[in-house]
Amino acid sequence: MALNLVMLGPPGAGKGTQAERFARVHGIPKVSTGDILREAVHSASELGRDVKEGMDRGELVGDDLIIEIVRERLMRPDAMAGFVLDGFPRTAPQAKALDELTASRGPVVCVEIQVPDEELVRRVRARRVCEDCGANADAFEHAIDSVSDLCQNTERCRTVGPTWVARSDDSEIVVRERLKIYWRNTRPMIEYYKARPTFRAIDGMRSPEQVREALVGAVAAALGQPAESLRDLARQSGGQA
Ligand code: AP5
Repeated sequence: MALNLVMLGPPGAGKGTQAERFARVHGIPKVSTGDILREAVHSASELGRDVKEGMDRGELVGDDLIIEIVRERLMRPDAMAGFVLDGFPRTAPQAKALDELTASRGPVVCVEIQVPDEELVRRVRARRVCEDCGANADAFEHAIDSVSDLCQNTERCRTVGPTWVARSDDSEIVVRERLKIYWRNTRPMIEYYKARPTFRAIDGMRSPEQVREALVGAVAAALGQPAESLRDLARQSGGQA
């Protein structure tokens, strides 16, 4: 059975952190619309030039464009056995499009990570990302300029060491704008999912490890399976859930 997971929640809730690990241990792709757009900005492609200014202000990219990006990504062969969506859908038209795209793909589990706004602002202001590979670190927890083993993902990170930078949309002003947009456009959309048996909400205020455990439990419960069966599935893919 395909494992289709949608991570929902506000900026800084931990969607990307959890999506990355869940996808890796289950051998399915993580599809992050934010990462795809940031990569386009980084490479100064036409798409990147079109979306950069709006993203820097914390605004949403247009529905048609983002739906087309996700449609193309989910059609690739590696997404047929499942996917973890991070940052999509964010509006009612995107949610409707996702229903159409996944109509014949088995159940789609939606998990909302809940975190209070002030903690979200703290996390986002503290976030630094590795310029080379995009790995995250918390500048309030680590003296990151002197800790190089937090990121070992690429040859450059391992040899030269990571260069930590703040995301261009992580200033306090922009994150508050992103939260406003979240509560106005995205949170109402979550009501659309709430009535479904495959929807679950989890507490994102615990440690990343505890949130990971809760996520595995929530996905298993939404699929009507014991959490152990999900761990077995991960082991079969060579990972450890
Ligand atoms: P996107 O990249 O999707 O940003 P976001 O949804 O605002 O989410 P974040 O990446 O800020 O947070 P996250 O929940 O992934 O948390 P993370 O794991 O990083 O989108 C960026 C922009 O792209 C949008 O503003 C928009 O312009 C555009 N866009 C993207 N998708 C779009 C769409 N569908 N439609 C239209 N426009 C779109 O964690 C955050 C920090 O907290 C990290 O430092 C992490 O280490 C830390 N952390 C994680 N978990 C914990 C924990 N349990 N305890 C303590 N710290 C934790």
